[in-house]
Amino acid sequence: MKFQGSQNYVATDDLMLAVNAASTLQKPLLLKGEPGTGKTMLAEEVAKSLGIPLLQWHIKSTTKAQQGLYEYDAVSRLRDSQLSGVEGNEKVKDINNYIVKGVLWQAFTADQPVALLIDEIDKADIEFPNDLLREIDRMEFYVYETRQLIKAKHRPLVFITSNNEKELPDAFLRRCFFHYIKFPDATTMQQIVDVHFPGLKKELLNAAMKTFYEVRNLPGLKKKPSTSELLDWLKLLVAEDISLDALQSKDDKVSIPPLVGALLKNEQDVTLFEKLVFMQSRNR
Ligand SMILES: Nc1ncnc2c1ncn2[C@@H]1O[C@H](COP(=O)(O)OP(=O)(O)O)[C@@H](O)[C@H]1O
Ligand SMILES: [Mg+2]
Repeated sequence: MKFQGSQNYVATDDLMLAVNAASTLQKPLLLKGEPGTGKTMLAEEVAKSLGIPLLQWHIKSTTKAQQGLYEYDAVSRLRDSQLSGVEGNEKVKDINNYIVKGVLWQAFTADQPVALLIDEIDKADIEFPNDLLREIDRMEFYVYETRQLIKAKHRPLVFITSNNEKELPDAFLRRCFFHYIKFPDATTMQQIVDVHFPGLKKELLNAAMKTFYEVRNLPGLKKKPSTSELLDWLKLLVAEDISLDALQSKDDKVSIPPLVGALLKNEQDVTLFEKLVFMQSRNR
């Protein structure tokens, strides 16, 4: 396979190389990067461009590795056994009726090759990645309740994303091909914006990009705005029909951009920005 980017997704050369390397090595592609840099979307776009289904597993702080394999629903079985008459007993006797298949099971037993996304793995507790080592390595697991070995028919193409909230264990890292999605440079960002807003006026785009990078490069920001914030902001600028003048500051000073709430997401950052503008106006 060769991933070349897609109509909706701008992939840099090093990202395409990473996707293809992971697929050649048959290892999961571990994607790190700031939130909003297109990690989740990459998995969706690669699956789409290869024409294979994508199974998604979104990780939360309470997610356990076992849930990706299967869960035994003992409560339903007990309830059924209490409620059922003679005919219900058949169902209760067969434990298979109470095994709920997880995403990995579905991916392993699919009739055609699939892509599998384990999204935001750093949300889970520290044991989570370690608990999946064997399954990811050998592509198989054992169901104790039914004494079945579930083995992958086709090795799924695995994407794992992390926002870097927690370090991942070394043993886990060894089994992945790693790629860090750098924040897009101005040229790449232009291409990304083009994909989303093909008809945007050049002057407006240039002014908006200048403001965006000014805000982003402000030292001391708690949360830097990223690609998805820029896109949201542009959408608003277009929807609200904001004029070029409102974006362009006179005499090249920084001013508070309209609809700044799309870019800055906490009050400290907004205050920081206001201070900067205030100091500039005093230095005039
Ligand atoms: N390279 C890209 N090409 C096109 N759109 C992008 C790209 N990177 C980010 N985006 C936009 O940013 C949004 C957020 O991306 P997402 O994949 O959810 O980020 P992450 O998973 O890294 O937090 C996407 O819905 C898409 O609109
Ligand atoms: Mg994501």
